[in-house]
Amino acid sequence: MQNIEPILSKPELSRDDIVRLLSADDDASMDLLRQKASGILLENCGPEVYFRGLIEFSNICLNDCDYCGIRRGNTKVKRFQLTKDEIVSTALWCAEHGYGSVVLQSGERRDPEFVDFVEDCVGKIKQCSRSERLPNGLGITLCVGEQTEETYRRFLAAGAHRYLLRIETSSPRLYARIHPESQRIETRIERLRMLNKIGFQVGTGVMIGLPGQAAEDLADDILFFRNMDIDMIGMGPFIPHSDTPLGQTAIAGGYDKDAVFRLALRMIAVTRLVLKDVNIASTTALQAIHPEGRELGLQYGANVIMPMATPPNVRHDYLLYEGKPCLDESAEQCSSCLRRRIESIGRTVALNRWGDSRHFSRLK
Ligand code: 5AD
Repeated sequence: MQNIEPILSKPELSRDDIVRLLSADDDASMDLLRQKASGILLENCGPEVYFRGLIEFSNICLNDCDYCGIRRGNTKVKRFQLTKDEIVSTALWCAEHGYGSVVLQSGERRDPEFVDFVEDCVGKIKQCSRSERLPNGLGITLCVGEQTEETYRRFLAAGAHRYLLRIETSSPRLYARIHPESQRIETRIERLRMLNKIGFQVGTGVMIGLPGQAAEDLADDILFFRNMDIDMIGMGPFIPHSDTPLGQTAIAGGYDKDAVFRLALRMIAVTRLVLKDVNIASTTALQAIHPEGRELGLQYGANVIMPMATPPNVRHDYLLYEGKPCLDESAEQCSSCLRRRIESIGRTVALNRWGDSRHFSRLK
């Protein structure tokens, strides 16, 4: 066991310090890290937790990522696409229940019908969600992959103001190992720059615990977030899906769920220490491998939760990984369960607010 206190008291962390913190797996170090991350979070972002209603509106996907359950090559998946009315009414349900923001997420498509469809949904949600409580309507985040600059501009003009595009890993070597050759890390990075330039609040993130990933790779991921001036982070443990090539490799190699979970908590905490004022999500994947995963994520420095708002009849078809929680709960149940969980750890849910990243408001 090493003493991480001297590292935690430094005003700036070097890459080497970050690697050490990420590697400190004993309980005492984890406790110190949690306390430090909570303090930095309170100081820079306050105690509020922001809700974003997550609407997974289609699992049709062009991509063939080696880790993802809805990859094009997985023929076992029943493909679905919600209608515009279903998406808009789900978003309005979120607004009525005090969620200030929604996230529209889907598999990746770039055809004109898809782009028109998303643009239209965003416009309608904006228009219909304005009320006394939300004079500017719902905050809308899009998570629909790599698109052209023109498409991104159309989405922004329609009223989306945040965009999530995970880099998955900032290591070119690992990225190439878990994606087909046609999916290039250079394109991803270029899209992140484009989104930033256009004026979106930009979110990215990585998977933690990928086969062959070292603490050094994760340290570089944190430095990548900083260099790219990222406003929001969504990251979680890699969880094997048995119908995917990487899932099968990981299971055969002996996937250690507990070790990956603890590493994911440290990654959240160290990201908070380095980036300070960004929004960090405590992702559903954390709860897939630990019953209190999302509460723990909040205690290690996260301040955003994405309650599942996807209509329950299609939730079973949007399985990116195995063990996804809350598949049979109603949106109502997810909302009250999460509120209870958040209050149980002494934090408050900020209702009817967009909850933008302070990093974004401060610098731009
Ligand atoms: N384990 C964990 N996260 C996954 N994602 C996809 N597949 C998995 C998996 N097997 C994540 C990716 C993607 C996000 C929508 O879900 O990071 O960007």
